[in-house]
Amino acid sequence: MTASTLLQEIEKYIPIVGDINIKSPLAYQATRGAVEVVNTVQMAVAEAYINGLEVPDSVLESFFDTCMPIFFQYFPSLLAPYEWVLKETDHLAEGSQQLMKIQYDLPQAMLNTMLGDGKLIYPKYSMGLWEKGALNLEQSQMHMIDDVIEKLDIKDGDNILDFGCGWACVPNYILSKFPNVKFTGLNLSHAQCEYIRHKMQDPESYLSSHRFTLYEGDLNNANFETKFHKILSIGVFEHVGNLTRAFKKLASFLKDDGKVLIHIITVRIPNNMSSVYTHKYIFPHGRYWNYDAVPSHQEDLKTIKKWYLNGSNYSKTITNWLQNFDDNQATIKTLNYGMDYAKFRRIWRFYLIWFIRNFASCDGEYNGNGQFLMVHA
Ligand SMILES: C[S@@+](CC[C@H](N)C(=O)[O-])C[C@H]1O[C@@H](n2cnc3c(N)ncnc32)[C@H](O)[C@@H]1O
Repeated sequence: MTASTLLQEIEKYIPIVGDINIKSPLAYQATRGAVEVVNTVQMAVAEAYINGLEVPDSVLESFFDTCMPIFFQYFPSLLAPYEWVLKETDHLAEGSQQLMKIQYDLPQAMLNTMLGDGKLIYPKYSMGLWEKGALNLEQSQMHMIDDVIEKLDIKDGDNILDFGCGWACVPNYILSKFPNVKFTGLNLSHAQCEYIRHKMQDPESYLSSHRFTLYEGDLNNANFETKFHKILSIGVFEHVGNLTRAFKKLASFLKDDGKVLIHIITVRIPNNMSSVYTHKYIFPHGRYWNYDAVPSHQEDLKTIKKWYLNGSNYSKTITNWLQNFDDNQATIKTLNYGMDYAKFRRIWRFYLIWFIRNFASCDGEYNGNGQFLMVHA
């Protein structure tokens, strides 16, 4: 027996430390008990803050900077607050309507201001790429989409599906670069689809070129007659609870020699990750799949290439979002969030500050973005 298999054998019987997927039943139960304690403490801290506890940002930042590296490196199992986070759920996407209400259908004037709303780069709610010299948020998003174009090998004339298209920022930018590309976008957010419909009437938008088709609907019910050359999905599989079902569906929309690029937030720990806080206040039923989760699926689609993009890119992107959020309080505070605005502001600042620190933690090597290039299995 080698030293590493011996260590793995010992780890099986020790709660909390290392890989929860290999724990003995007793060590597993003890670990889940510890998770409950972490959940309670996390919620107590978060709710004290959102209910008005006055602490400077620097205190919150230090708190996250202290905790997160310890969890990532030594106690990753404590980052799975519910058992459903560890495995696939029944539906392709769980609780979609609740997610729209709490997150994506919030007043768009707030989201659009925070994310940035340019002439070419519409609000994009996913990571920008800063490693290639971007000087601002808009450039970072262009660099990110250029990177996707290259990795998915998009060619003029391709018919492409954007599975979870947001405000159709990615289709608009790609349509501007390729005069014969066609795009179909799918999104459940009614508010975001209204934004897109408006752009589809705007002669200055590439979405008005009749090369863009919008489907407002749920990933769970998505069905297309067309087979696409390429499928991309950016920042959406965090809401997918069943990869097996999702890949089966995507494979049925893909031409025989087609390619899929899944781009998601990922964690390089043995298990998937979520939090009681984000589940309640920000992204219900959301989770970060661990970096090996997508490639472990081989049934309908298989991964032929994968990339890990350092979390510092997302940390910088969210730093810009927080700045936009803070700088535009005069408008943002006048909108209707269905709750006291002071509380809403704190809920969002807690989320944004936490995520900035999370992605920067351990030099961005644990929590970053994963890109997975897939073809028919
Ligand atoms: C984080 S945003 C990313 C949007 C876009 N891909 C981008 O990069 O800006 C996730 C998107 O997925 C959509 N989405 C989430 N769950 C969905 C579901 N069940 N059905 C359809 N769309 C969904 C949201 O409305 C939102 O537009």
